[in-house]
Parts: sequence; structure tokens; C-alpha cells
Amino acid sequence: MTDSTSSTSRPRILSGMRPTGKLHLGNYMGALYNWVKLQHDYECYFFIADYHALTTDYADPGQVKQNIFEVAVDFLSAGLDPAKCTVFVQSHVPQHAELHLLLSMITPVSWLERVPTYKDQQEQLREKDLATYGFLGYPLLQSADILLYQPRYVPVGQDQVSHIELTREVARRFNYFYSPKRVVPESQGGTGLTEPDPDKLLLPEPDVLLTPSPKLPGLDGRKMSKSYGNSILLSDQPGTVLQKMAGMSNGGQRPTQHDPGDPAICPVGDMHRLFSPQDVVDHISNGCRTAAIRCDECKVMAAGSINQHLQPILQRRVELERDPDAVWNALDLGAVRAAARAEQTMLAIRAVTGLSRDRSGVRVDSGLLPKDQPQIRDLSNFKDWWETAPAVLARNLRELWKKEILPSDRVLKPDAEGVWITRNNQRMYVAVATESGEGKTWTFSVKPKSYEMLVLLCWGEDLALRDFVVPQKLFLAQWVAAKKRAGKENIVFSVSREEGRFLLNLPEAAGIDITDTEANYTIIPSN
Ligand code: TRP
Repeated sequence: MTDSTSSTSRPRILSGMRPTGKLHLGNYMGALYNWVKLQHDYECYFFIADYHALTTDYADPGQVKQNIFEVAVDFLSAGLDPAKCTVFVQSHVPQHAELHLLLSMITPVSWLERVPTYKDQQEQLREKDLATYGFLGYPLLQSADILLYQPRYVPVGQDQVSHIELTREVARRFNYFYSPKRVVPESQGGTGLTEPDPDKLLLPEPDVLLTPSPKLPGLDGRKMSKSYGNSILLSDQPGTVLQKMAGMSNGGQRPTQHDPGDPAICPVGDMHRLFSPQDVVDHISNGCRTAAIRCDECKVMAAGSINQHLQPILQRRVELERDPDAVWNALDLGAVRAAARAEQTMLAIRAVTGLSRDRSGVRVDSGLLPKDQPQIRDLSNFKDWWETAPAVLARNLRELWKKEILPSDRVLKPDAEGVWITRNNQRMYVAVATESGEGKTWTFSVKPKSYEMLVLLCWGEDLALRDFVVPQKLFLAQWVAAKKRAGKENIVFSVSREEGRFLLNLPEAAGIDITDTEANYTIIPSN
């Protein structure tokens, strides 16, 4: 791509709008006007949230496509330029739905019930049955919309802030489960515990880019809203704007035109402050306060200023309406670009959630436990190792384990002696012991560091090797305590066999059952 949408050095932003039909000046000033400015400085994704429209209009989707078209025409005529930013329809990029589903797996229902817009909207739209799963999930779908593109910022108005907060919480929870982990030792100011590596987050948390939302009253002085029928549309012709403005409320001031008024509390004054040049604002302000101009004159001037602003928009609209295919084609192009970006995120997410179509790493199990497959772990050929010095034995057994036992698609990066780093950056220590004379126990001695998993190689008197792959969650608390007590000494612990079970005995706590971790390599990610 040679156009400016391909620039990756600009911070990425994303925002969406529900297709409610032709946009009014409130929608425009509250979002689109800003987006048009942002497209020059950011890598932008702007979309029409048609799935979101269905959360409330599911019973009556007949208008959805028409509304999409109208909003698209509004976007483009307002100045969003497909050569500068990516404009698309949400449902044309089905990864939105896919990520929403995956996020729904990890999102507590209570988080959604707590979002303030949930109850508010249900009350405001009483005529609709919004006790649905989809409506509860509205803000989570929005989280998926956002996180899919890993944007730095989300430009929205104040009313959407709670949805961005939810998005950040969901991202944090997702990263906690699935992002590559690291450990920063306490000696380096870290917690010594496993945490998502901030440089490798699958879903970085975006920030709100708060859109300035100037006060834009409707014709009756209340907030401009489609449902109040008090709107001026972005697509209104100059004559319509003039006519609508002539009927605009002046806030109940100036009972007669000889009475002065206060433009600071007049809805028409608000329009001037948004759309008129400063000299006109000064002129009507003085005229109003001194009763030197009449309200109808003031309204005509406000209409003139609005029309001035809308004139280039109307002109682009005329061209677009002459060629509706160009509008649909722009959306098609946008969907292709958006899907390319979205798919990058989804590939990584499918991989960590076990949904990739990569076949490697799937073991075909005979159903027999390793102890029943002595050919794999039978080390009788190596019985002269039995008497070698512990350090030599440890090196040999680790070597053998890595070559013969560790599944070959698990790639480990060598670290310190006996320490390897997994593909998701977990530290693994491979410890070795031979069965001791006093009975069925293996005694290990390990440096007092943090490990996210221990591989315990227990070589028995029967010359069979048992390999336990023990995740940190089984030993973390006890290990932290043992580490504290050990100071600079090694931590000495054992594995014992009791009634067919294998128990890990740490200094602080005996009897952690590790039987089921035998030969279980599922916790080490494959490629
Ligand atoms: N909920 C937003 C609104 O009502 C629309 C929206 C959907 C959105 N998905 C989004 C906004 C993602 C920003 C980012 O205006």
C-alpha cells in the first residue's frame, strides 16, 4: 500500500457509531467532526456498529441496511477520506463476533450488570424487551471491537467512558490468563511472581481520547436527539435549516422583543458559539443584551453560520448520492483493510486459546500411562550412570530427557544450568535425583530462585525414570516460604512414593500430590 493508511508509525485509534439513520448536528459535533480531524495524525479505524444496532432493534431489522448506507454517506461527506483512514461496517469483519465470543468466556456476568448504561438504557427503551443476552453483552461487544485492533486510543464522548473502563478490565483479565509471562525478581524491584510481560500483551489496554462534547441543543432547547424530533440533520438543505432555526426556542427569554435577553443561556446563542465567527457572536451578544436585534434576525444569522459549515458537506453528498456504488465500494475496501489488521490479533488469540488449526503439539496417546511404556523411560542401558557424581549424572539425565522424553515440538531456550525458558517465557528448572536407599524417596537440592515450573526427574532403583512436570500453582506459596527460610542455601526437598501416589515434600509443607503431573507436558506451549 502506498497511501497514508499504511503508515504504522502513527498511534492507532478506533471508534464506532451505531447506524441510527441520518446523522444530526449533535452526532456530528460529538464525534464525526473530531474523527475528520484525527484522520490526519493517527492510523484510524472508524466503523458502523451494525451488530450493536441489532442489540436493540433485533425485532425489526428492516431499517438496518438503509441506515448503514445513510451513515456511510454522512461519514464520507463529512470528510472521512478512505485514502486516509479505514471506514467499514462492523459485521463485514466477522472477527468482531469471534473475539466477542472468546471474551464472553472470561467475563464475569456481574461486570456487565454493573455497567451503568445497562440499566439506564433498559429504562429509557421500555417499549423494547432488552432482557436479552445480546443487550447485556453490548459493552463486551464494544470491548471486542476495540481490542481487536490493539489501538492506543479510543475517541469517545463522556457517555462511553464506562464502556472503555470495562474494556480495560477485560483486557487485563485476558492478559492475565493468556499473555506471555515474566518474573521480575524481588532483588530487581519486582514481585518475584509470574505476571503478564508488559511488552508482550496480546490485548494492550487502550486509553480514552475524550472527545470535546460542546453543548449542542435541539430546536426545543433540550438535548438534540433523534427521538425528540428536535434535530437539524447533516443532510438538511439550507432552506430546511433556515426554516428549522426560525422555530428554535430562545430558552423562554425576551417575552417581548423590547426586553433584553442573555445569549449565554439561549439555545440559539449556543448555536452561534459553535458555528458563527467571533464578530457575529459579538454582534448578536450585544444586540441581544440591549434588545437591539430581534430573535428572528439572530436565528437567521445562526442558520447562515450553520449552512456555511454544512455547504462543503452537502456538496460532497450530492456527488456520493449520484454514485452509491462508490460508497459501498469504499466500505468493501475498508472491510478488507480492517480484517487484515483484525486477523493479526485473532491468529495470536486462537493460538493461545487452543483454537488454532496448527496440528503440531497434539499427542496421539495410546491410552497407556508412561509407566506402562517402559521402552520410553527404561534407562537400564545407562546403569553405569548410576554411580557417577551428582553433577555429571544431572547433566547426562537432563540431556537425555531433552532429547528423548520432552516432546519434540516444545522449544526451550537454555538459561542457567538446569534452567530453560519456554516459548511463553516461563522459567523451568529441571531437577534430577536418584532413588535413595532408605526407601522410595528422591532428594533434590535446588537454588532458591523463582521457577514457573519444575521438571522433576526421578530415577528409580528399577532403572526406570519418572518425569513430573509440576506447575507453579502446585507449589508457589510453599516455595516462597522455603525460599525465604533458605536464604542463600539451596532448598532441599523430596519426592516420595506412597501407596502408588507421588508426593512432593517441601520444607514448609509435605504431601503435595504430583501424581497427575507425570509425563504431562501440556503446560509447556508448543510451537
Ligand atoms: N457504543 C458506542 C455508541 O453508542 C458505539 C460503539 C460500538 C463504539 N463499538 C464501539 C464506540 C467501539 C467506540 C469504540 O456510541
